Amino acid sequence: MRGACACAVVCALVALCAASGLDEETRSAAERQLLALLGMPRRPARSAATPPPVPRAMRLLYEAQGAMPAAAANTARSYHHTPTDIDVRFPNEHRFRLFFNLSAVPADEIARGADVTFQRASGATSDQRLLLYDIVRPGRRGQSAPILRLLDSKPLRPAKGTVTTDAIGAVRRWLSEPEHNHGLLVRVIEEDAHGTDARVPHVRVRRRASENEEEWRAMQPLLLLYTEDGRARAARELGETRLTRNKRAAQRKGHRAHHRRKEAREICQRRPLYVDFAEVGWSDWIVAPHGYDAYYCQGDCPFPLADHLNGTNHAIVQTLVNSVNPAAVPKACCVPTQLAPISMLYMDEANNVVLKNYQDMMVVGCGCR
Ligand SMILES: *[C@@H]1O[C@H](CO)[C@@H](O)[C@H](O)[C@H]1NC(C)=O
Ligand SMILES: *[C@@H]1O[C@H](CO)[C@@H](O)[C@H](O)[C@H]1NC(C)=O
Repeated sequence: MRGACACAVVCALVALCAASGLDEETRSAAERQLLALLGMPRRPARSAATPPPVPRAMRLLYEAQGAMPAAAANTARSYHHTPTDIDVRFPNEHRFRLFFNLSAVPADEIARGADVTFQRASGATSDQRLLLYDIVRPGRRGQSAPILRLLDSKPLRPAKGTVTTDAIGAVRRWLSEPEHNHGLLVRVIEEDAHGTDARVPHVRVRRRASENEEEWRAMQPLLLLYTEDGRARAARELGETRLTRNKRAAQRKGHRAHHRRKEAREICQRRPLYVDFAEVGWSDWIVAPHGYDAYYCQGDCPFPLADHLNGTNHAIVQTLVNSVNPAAVPKACCVPTQLAPISMLYMDEANNVVLKNYQDMMVVGCGCR
């Protein structure tokens, strides 16, 4: 009886795989359930335009298996500047207003970090400084000067690689009061006594007339927003209890018993299950991976419960009672006892690339519970 003993995420995936051969209603019910588990209100809309390429920084994060540079974050969202009418007021290469539209960030996500990364320009030789400001209130021509709050200040020396600045102060404000997101002001100045405008800036802030869309895409500043969503927060707060439980299981493993080989086939163990996102029809919005090893748990939990079956004291007692009186209680269930996260890259509705770490997506160990 696997149905009675299955677990949430893997169970929904299995249902969705199986549903590919079934009617539309069953299939969409399975999909709804899985989207809810992933904390998504709906499947991102299929857009007619070809999706933009994944920024290099996001690709690297994904390859690092979602090791986030901000503590407690489980999601990374990437943004480029949204062109607006105001852009024409910043014709120079040393001063530009960047606007990032964060309206699609779900309300349950808390910002844990926000970096704006700039690409290097060639040809600059002097010592310069990059200043990043939050535009708290935009200025009015001929009436009032803008109110700016300095977020970060970085020395710029001739070098290779990117320049990363911290914009968390502004991003927190925008998420709580989106109507007051007036963007960031970037300035590059000479690091001489007068702080004059840099003539040949070390970093690229604005598109040149000679550049096409594609060339500029690789050079333009990128905002990486790291957030923790509601589910991750709940899981972290539960973490304490889970830690003590794992410690107990590890102690038990110290003195494991032998088990007979011939039983090994039927008893509770991890079994292979590969989920192919193309097969479940999700390959159009999941950029990577193409699929993953979810595994599942199946098998008998026989009396006496062996130590390697990762049973709880309760499962040992339940198995004992079942062996004496099978009508009184069923045997313990073979379920995942240790799960691992996976990282997924996908597009949100505004075609921004998002990386999310999903907890408990892959079975590491099974046991009788
Ligand atoms: C931000 O994007 C949303 C759609 O995701 C759009 O409705 C809204 O108008 C945009 N806001 C600005 C200021 O561009
Ligand atoms: C019990 O858990 C450990 C660690 O999670 C795992 O390596 C082992 O395979 C599990 N036992 C079974 C029967 O899956």
